Amino acid sequence: MTALVVRELVTETPSIVSIRLESPDGSSLPLWQPGSHIDVQLLTRHERQYSLCGDPADLTAYRIAVRREPRSRGGSHYIHGYLRVGSLVWVRPPRNLFALAEAPSYLLLAAGIGITPILSMARHLAAQNAEWQMTYATRHRDDIAFADELGALGERVTTHVSGESGRLDLPALLSRASPGTAVYACGPQAFIDELTELAGLLPEGSSIHVERFEPRQREHRPNAPFTVVCTQSDVTVEVPAGRSMLESLQGAGIPVEGSCLRGICGSCAMNVLEGEPEHRDSLNSDERSMTIYPCVSRSLSPTLAVDV
Ligand code: FES
Repeated sequence: MTALVVRELVTETPSIVSIRLESPDGSSLPLWQPGSHIDVQLLTRHERQYSLCGDPADLTAYRIAVRREPRSRGGSHYIHGYLRVGSLVWVRPPRNLFALAEAPSYLLLAAGIGITPILSMARHLAAQNAEWQMTYATRHRDDIAFADELGALGERVTTHVSGESGRLDLPALLSRASPGTAVYACGPQAFIDELTELAGLLPEGSSIHVERFEPRQREHRPNAPFTVVCTQSDVTVEVPAGRSMLESLQGAGIPVEGSCLRGICGSCAMNVLEGEPEHRDSLNSDERSMTIYPCVSRSLSPTLAVDV
Protein backbone atom coordinates (compact mmCIF):
# COMPACT_ATOMS: atom_id res chain seq x y z
CA MET A 1 0.00 0.00 0.00
CA THR A 2 1.11 3.58 -0.65
CA ALA A 3 0.84 6.36 1.94
CA LEU A 4 -1.11 9.40 0.73
CA VAL A 5 -1.75 12.59 2.60
CA VAL A 6 -5.13 14.30 3.04
CA ARG A 7 -4.77 17.70 1.34
CA GLU A 8 -8.39 18.86 1.46
CA LEU A 9 -11.62 17.93 3.25
CA VAL A 10 -14.81 19.47 1.87
CA THR A 11 -18.25 19.19 3.46
CA GLU A 12 -20.39 18.42 0.40
CA THR A 13 -23.65 17.84 2.30
CA PRO A 14 -24.52 17.54 6.00
CA SER A 15 -23.58 13.85 5.77
CA ILE A 16 -21.00 13.65 2.95
CA VAL A 17 -17.40 14.81 3.04
CA SER A 18 -15.07 14.69 0.03
CA ILE A 19 -11.37 14.08 0.51
CA ARG A 20 -8.48 15.02 -1.74
CA LEU A 21 -5.53 12.65 -1.36
CA GLU A 22 -2.09 13.43 -2.71
CA SER A 23 1.32 11.83 -2.65
CA PRO A 24 3.33 13.37 0.27
CA ASP A 25 6.13 14.36 -2.14
CA GLY A 26 3.75 15.65 -4.81
CA SER A 27 4.58 12.90 -7.32
CA SER A 28 1.98 11.67 -9.84
CA LEU A 29 -0.42 8.91 -8.89
CA PRO A 30 -1.23 5.81 -10.99
CA LEU A 31 -3.67 6.31 -13.86
CA TRP A 32 -7.33 5.42 -13.38
CA GLN A 33 -10.53 5.25 -15.41
CA PRO A 34 -14.11 6.28 -14.47
CA GLY A 35 -15.73 3.62 -12.30
CA SER A 36 -12.47 2.78 -10.50
CA HIS A 37 -12.19 2.46 -6.76
CA ILE A 38 -9.32 2.41 -4.29
CA ASP A 39 -8.88 0.40 -1.11
CA VAL A 40 -8.15 2.84 1.70
CA GLN A 41 -6.63 1.77 5.00
CA LEU A 42 -6.92 4.21 7.89
CA LEU A 43 -4.69 4.68 10.91
CA THR A 44 -7.21 2.55 12.80
CA ARG A 45 -6.41 -0.33 10.35
CA HIS A 46 -9.97 -0.18 9.02
CA GLU A 47 -9.88 -0.86 5.30
CA ARG A 48 -12.65 0.35 3.00
CA GLN A 49 -13.28 0.71 -0.73
CA TYR A 50 -14.18 4.12 -2.15
CA SER A 51 -14.99 5.07 -5.73
CA LEU A 52 -12.85 7.79 -7.24
CA CYS A 53 -14.98 10.81 -8.02
CA GLY A 54 -12.38 13.30 -9.26
CA ASP A 55 -11.05 13.97 -12.71
CA PRO A 56 -9.17 10.99 -14.24
CA ALA A 57 -6.99 13.50 -16.13
CA ASP A 58 -5.70 14.95 -12.83
CA LEU A 59 -2.98 12.58 -11.62
CA THR A 60 -1.86 14.92 -8.85
CA ALA A 61 -4.66 13.67 -6.58
CA TYR A 62 -7.38 11.10 -5.94
CA ARG A 63 -10.71 12.34 -4.68
CA ILE A 64 -13.17 10.20 -2.75
CA ALA A 65 -16.36 11.00 -0.86
CA VAL A 66 -17.60 9.35 2.31
CA ARG A 67 -21.06 9.39 3.82
CA ARG A 68 -21.53 9.47 7.57
CA GLU A 69 -23.03 6.07 8.33
CA PRO A 70 -25.24 5.98 11.43
CA ARG A 71 -24.23 2.35 11.91
CA SER A 72 -20.62 2.78 10.86
CA ARG A 73 -18.38 -0.27 11.12
CA GLY A 74 -15.51 2.13 11.89
CA GLY A 75 -14.32 3.71 8.63
CA SER A 76 -17.01 6.36 8.17
CA HIS A 77 -17.01 7.20 11.90
CA TYR A 78 -13.23 7.74 11.87
CA ILE A 79 -13.22 9.76 8.63
CA HIS A 80 -15.99 12.11 9.76
CA GLY A 81 -14.77 12.43 13.33
CA TYR A 82 -11.01 12.31 13.24
CA LEU A 83 -9.51 12.60 9.73
CA ARG A 84 -7.82 15.99 9.25
CA VAL A 85 -5.86 17.80 6.54
CA GLY A 86 -2.35 16.38 6.86
CA SER A 87 -3.50 12.92 8.05
CA LEU A 88 -2.01 9.92 6.27
CA VAL A 89 -4.00 7.06 4.77
CA TRP A 90 -2.73 3.97 2.95
CA VAL A 91 -4.06 3.18 -0.50
CA ARG A 92 -3.84 0.35 -3.04
CA PRO A 93 -3.68 1.31 -6.75
CA PRO A 94 -7.08 1.90 -8.40
CA ARG A 95 -9.00 -1.11 -9.70
CA ASN A 96 -11.92 -0.90 -12.08
CA LEU A 97 -14.75 -3.42 -11.74
CA PHE A 98 -17.30 -0.92 -13.05
CA ALA A 99 -15.72 0.19 -16.31
CA LEU A 100 -17.65 1.97 -19.05
CA ALA A 101 -18.18 -0.28 -22.09
CA GLU A 102 -18.54 1.04 -25.63
CA ALA A 103 -22.20 1.88 -26.30
CA PRO A 104 -24.17 4.19 -28.60
CA SER A 105 -25.73 5.89 -25.58
CA TYR A 106 -25.53 5.86 -21.81
CA LEU A 107 -28.03 6.28 -19.00
CA LEU A 108 -26.32 7.06 -15.68
CA LEU A 109 -28.34 6.57 -12.51
CA ALA A 110 -27.13 7.53 -9.04
CA ALA A 111 -28.84 7.48 -5.67
CA GLY A 112 -27.35 8.96 -2.52
CA ILE A 113 -23.60 8.41 -2.14
CA GLY A 114 -23.80 6.33 -5.36
CA ILE A 115 -23.06 9.64 -7.08
CA THR A 116 -19.29 9.07 -6.66
CA PRO A 117 -18.49 6.70 -9.58
CA ILE A 118 -21.34 8.17 -11.66
CA LEU A 119 -19.90 11.69 -11.38
CA SER A 120 -16.57 10.61 -12.88
CA MET A 121 -18.42 8.74 -15.64
CA ALA A 122 -20.55 11.77 -16.48
CA ARG A 123 -17.51 14.01 -16.66
CA HIS A 124 -15.73 11.52 -18.92
CA LEU A 125 -18.72 11.04 -21.27
CA ALA A 126 -19.18 14.80 -21.52
CA ALA A 127 -15.50 15.19 -22.48
CA GLN A 128 -15.92 12.47 -25.12
CA ASN A 129 -19.03 14.15 -26.60
CA ALA A 130 -20.87 10.88 -26.01
CA GLU A 131 -24.64 10.53 -26.00
CA TRP A 132 -25.60 10.35 -22.32
CA GLN A 133 -28.17 11.32 -19.72
CA MET A 134 -27.94 11.19 -15.97
CA THR A 135 -30.44 11.12 -13.13
CA TYR A 136 -29.32 11.63 -9.54
CA ALA A 137 -31.86 10.84 -6.82
CA THR A 138 -31.65 12.04 -3.24
CA ARG A 139 -34.20 12.14 -0.45
CA HIS A 140 -33.78 15.81 0.45
CA ARG A 141 -32.43 18.84 -1.41
CA ASP A 142 -29.66 19.16 1.22
CA ASP A 143 -28.44 15.69 0.25
CA ILE A 144 -27.37 16.77 -3.26
CA ALA A 145 -23.58 16.46 -3.35
CA PHE A 146 -21.30 18.10 -5.93
CA ALA A 147 -24.12 20.42 -7.00
CA ASP A 148 -21.77 22.92 -8.71
CA GLU A 149 -19.90 20.24 -10.63
CA LEU A 150 -23.15 18.65 -11.76
CA GLY A 151 -24.49 22.05 -12.76
CA ALA A 152 -21.41 22.56 -14.95
CA LEU A 153 -22.28 19.38 -16.85
CA GLY A 154 -25.44 21.03 -18.15
CA GLU A 155 -28.90 19.84 -19.00
CA ARG A 156 -28.03 16.20 -19.42
CA VAL A 157 -28.04 15.95 -15.62
CA THR A 158 -31.37 15.75 -13.80
CA THR A 159 -31.62 15.77 -10.03
CA HIS A 160 -34.64 14.17 -8.42
CA VAL A 161 -35.54 14.95 -4.79
CA SER A 162 -37.93 12.24 -3.67
CA GLY A 163 -38.98 14.17 -0.54
CA GLU A 164 -40.46 16.82 -2.87
CA SER A 165 -41.42 14.95 -6.05
CA GLY A 166 -42.14 11.44 -4.81
CA ARG A 167 -40.42 8.22 -5.73
CA LEU A 168 -38.16 8.24 -8.79
CA ASP A 169 -40.04 6.66 -11.70
CA LEU A 170 -37.47 4.08 -12.77
CA PRO A 171 -39.85 2.20 -15.10
CA ALA A 172 -40.43 5.41 -17.09
CA LEU A 173 -36.71 6.18 -17.26
CA LEU A 174 -35.84 2.70 -18.53
CA SER A 175 -38.74 2.58 -21.01
CA ARG A 176 -37.58 5.84 -22.62
CA ALA A 177 -34.00 4.59 -23.21
CA SER A 178 -32.97 4.12 -26.83
CA PRO A 179 -31.93 0.67 -28.15
CA GLY A 180 -28.38 -0.29 -27.16
CA THR A 181 -28.25 2.00 -24.13
CA ALA A 182 -25.75 1.04 -21.46
CA VAL A 183 -27.22 1.78 -18.02
CA TYR A 184 -24.71 2.39 -15.21
CA ALA A 185 -26.16 2.64 -11.73
CA CYS A 186 -24.85 2.99 -8.21
CA GLY A 187 -26.82 3.43 -5.02
CA PRO A 188 -28.35 1.70 -2.01
CA GLN A 189 -29.42 -1.90 -2.21
CA ALA A 190 -33.17 -1.23 -2.61
CA PHE A 191 -32.46 1.10 -5.55
CA ILE A 192 -30.21 -1.42 -7.30
CA ASP A 193 -32.59 -4.31 -6.60
CA GLU A 194 -35.53 -2.40 -8.08
CA LEU A 195 -33.50 -1.41 -11.11
CA THR A 196 -32.29 -4.93 -11.88
CA GLU A 197 -35.83 -6.26 -11.51
CA LEU A 198 -36.95 -3.74 -14.15
CA ALA A 199 -34.23 -4.67 -16.65
CA GLY A 200 -36.83 -6.23 -18.94
CA LEU A 201 -38.23 -2.76 -19.70
CA LEU A 202 -35.06 -1.73 -21.51
CA PRO A 203 -35.10 -1.83 -25.31
CA GLU A 204 -33.21 -4.42 -27.32
CA GLY A 205 -29.44 -4.52 -27.08
CA SER A 206 -29.34 -2.52 -23.84
CA SER A 207 -27.40 -3.57 -20.76
CA ILE A 208 -27.37 -2.79 -17.04
CA HIS A 209 -24.17 -2.43 -15.01
CA VAL A 210 -24.46 -1.87 -11.28
CA GLU A 211 -22.18 -1.25 -8.35
CA ARG A 212 -23.32 -2.14 -4.85
CA PHE A 213 -22.22 -0.88 -1.44
CA GLU A 214 -23.66 -3.82 0.39
CA PRO A 215 -23.42 -7.52 -0.42
CA ARG A 216 -26.28 -8.98 -2.44
CA GLN A 217 -28.31 -11.54 -0.47
CA ARG A 218 -27.68 -14.93 -2.08
CA GLU A 219 -29.10 -18.28 -1.08
CA HIS A 220 -26.58 -21.04 -0.63
CA ARG A 221 -26.27 -24.48 0.89
CA PRO A 222 -24.69 -24.93 4.34
CA ASN A 223 -20.89 -24.74 4.43
CA ALA A 224 -19.09 -28.01 3.70
CA PRO A 225 -15.34 -28.73 3.73
CA PHE A 226 -13.50 -28.90 0.40
CA THR A 227 -9.98 -29.09 -0.98
CA VAL A 228 -8.20 -26.40 -2.99
CA VAL A 229 -5.29 -27.28 -5.28
CA CYS A 230 -3.11 -24.21 -5.91
CA THR A 231 -1.50 -25.00 -9.23
CA GLN A 232 1.13 -22.23 -9.31
CA SER A 233 2.26 -22.76 -5.74
CA ASP A 234 1.93 -26.55 -5.96
CA VAL A 235 0.19 -26.61 -2.56
CA THR A 236 -3.03 -28.38 -1.55
CA VAL A 237 -5.14 -26.67 1.11
CA GLU A 238 -8.06 -28.09 3.10
CA VAL A 239 -10.89 -25.59 3.70
CA PRO A 240 -12.93 -26.58 6.77
CA ALA A 241 -16.64 -25.75 7.03
CA GLY A 242 -15.99 -23.01 9.60
CA ARG A 243 -13.29 -21.11 7.70
CA SER A 244 -13.33 -19.13 4.47
CA MET A 245 -11.34 -20.25 1.46
CA LEU A 246 -9.34 -16.99 1.61
CA GLU A 247 -8.40 -17.49 5.27
CA SER A 248 -7.44 -21.08 4.56
CA LEU A 249 -5.21 -20.10 1.63
CA GLN A 250 -3.57 -17.30 3.61
CA GLY A 251 -3.07 -19.67 6.55
CA ALA A 252 -1.21 -22.02 4.22
CA GLY A 253 1.12 -19.20 3.14
CA ILE A 254 -0.43 -18.64 -0.32
CA PRO A 255 0.10 -14.95 -1.28
CA VAL A 256 -3.52 -13.87 -1.79
CA GLU A 257 -4.95 -10.55 -0.67
CA GLY A 258 -8.38 -9.54 0.51
CA SER A 259 -9.86 -6.18 1.35
CA CYS A 260 -13.64 -5.99 1.90
CA LEU A 261 -13.97 -9.69 2.90
CA ARG A 262 -17.62 -9.35 1.82
CA GLY A 263 -17.45 -10.27 -1.87
CA ILE A 264 -17.94 -6.74 -3.17
CA CYS A 265 -14.49 -5.25 -3.89
CA GLY A 266 -12.90 -7.85 -6.17
CA SER A 267 -9.44 -7.71 -4.60
CA CYS A 268 -9.25 -11.44 -3.86
CA ALA A 269 -10.27 -12.61 -7.38
CA MET A 270 -8.66 -15.75 -8.74
CA ASN A 271 -9.24 -18.05 -11.70
CA VAL A 272 -10.70 -21.50 -11.24
CA LEU A 273 -9.07 -24.09 -13.52
CA GLU A 274 -11.07 -27.16 -12.48
CA GLY A 275 -14.06 -27.85 -10.26
CA GLU A 276 -17.37 -26.13 -9.67
CA PRO A 277 -17.24 -22.86 -7.71
CA GLU A 278 -20.16 -21.86 -5.51
CA HIS A 279 -20.44 -18.11 -6.05
CA ARG A 280 -21.58 -16.17 -2.98
CA ASP A 281 -20.15 -12.80 -4.01
CA SER A 282 -21.94 -9.70 -5.32
CA LEU A 283 -19.74 -9.30 -8.40
CA ASN A 284 -20.38 -12.37 -10.56
CA SER A 285 -23.67 -12.30 -12.41
CA ASP A 286 -23.00 -15.58 -14.25
CA GLU A 287 -23.18 -18.68 -12.05
CA ARG A 288 -20.87 -20.45 -14.53
CA SER A 289 -18.14 -17.82 -14.10
CA MET A 290 -14.70 -19.29 -13.45
CA THR A 291 -13.58 -16.23 -11.47
CA ILE A 292 -13.98 -16.88 -7.76
CA TYR A 293 -13.87 -14.45 -4.82
CA PRO A 294 -12.61 -16.72 -2.02
CA CYS A 295 -13.40 -14.31 0.83
CA VAL A 296 -17.02 -15.48 0.62
CA SER A 297 -17.32 -18.10 -2.14
CA ARG A 298 -16.75 -21.81 -1.74
CA SER A 299 -16.91 -24.98 -3.85
CA LEU A 300 -19.73 -27.24 -4.94
CA SER A 301 -17.25 -29.92 -6.02
CA PRO A 302 -15.05 -31.76 -3.48
CA THR A 303 -11.95 -30.22 -5.07
CA LEU A 304 -11.26 -26.87 -6.74
CA ALA A 305 -8.07 -26.17 -8.71
CA VAL A 306 -7.14 -22.48 -8.76
CA ASP A 307 -4.47 -20.52 -10.62
CA VAL A 308 -2.46 -19.22 -7.65
S1 FES B 1 -11.91 -9.32 -0.42
FE1 FES B 1 -13.32 -8.07 -1.48
S2 FES B 1 -14.21 -9.47 -2.92
FE2 FES B 1 -12.95 -10.71 -1.67
